[in-house]
Amino acid sequence: MSKPSGFKPYYFKTLTSTNDEAKHLAKKGLDKIIVVANKQTKGRGRFNREWISGLGGLYMTIALKEKSLDKARYLTLIAAVSVVKTIEKLTKLNALVKWPNDVMVNDKKICGILTEAISGKENYALVGIGLNVNQKNFNKSISNKAVSLKIITNKNYNINKIIKIIINNFNSLYKNYKSKNYKKIIGIWKNCSHTLGKMVKVKTISGVYAGEAVGVDNDCSLILKLDNGKLKKIVEGDIFIV
Ligand code: BTN
Repeated sequence: MSKPSGFKPYYFKTLTSTNDEAKHLAKKGLDKIIVVANKQTKGRGRFNREWISGLGGLYMTIALKEKSLDKARYLTLIAAVSVVKTIEKLTKLNALVKWPNDVMVNDKKICGILTEAISGKENYALVGIGLNVNQKNFNKSISNKAVSLKIITNKNYNINKIIKIIINNFNSLYKNYKSKNYKKIIGIWKNCSHTLGKMVKVKTISGVYAGEAVGVDNDCSLILKLDNGKLKKIVEGDIFIV
């Protein structure tokens, strides 16, 4: 794979998880690396859910050395927008981001992002991206909510080429992160949001909340306008459009 804009790629046939390998390499002090695998044996998503990771999908993790991880949630938004722009460039499909980390096409999930932090003497953000590319189908348990580029367009795609486009998009948005232009990131994210303006139900560890998704605050939390008119900040949860 040629080296996409300033990131050093590490390429593997099989890994447990690209996030695990990225963590291992980051602990050796490497920065601005991308770990890519053809398949994962223990791919994981948010809340430790399984991420089905057979051949045909794109599995990559971007590892970045950061002074502070306070704003690392912005990296999830940046990654999601980078994938949206990549899909639109490649296919002309309309892709949108479901807060905080899912990329949707035709109301089905095509990509998930798992950002993990390593804090210590050096801090790292690991941004794991799983994009469904050439999978012909999914098993029954997820086929009504997951989709791949192949299923929608009936074409096969070159995964290395997609990675390069994602990284180039990521790199240009990451400049805003480095210059602390968080407002700009939120603005760009809002333009491709699947969630804002919709009536949603959110499952969180403290309960289920229903209301209109009206905004995202400066720590990337979702703001819900509850049915009683009060605003509720959602830090983490699963969104269901109602
Ligand atoms: C989610 O939707 O909950 C996030 C899914 C993230 C999956 C990607 S695939 C590459 C990287 N390695 C992992 O084990 N997970 C992320």
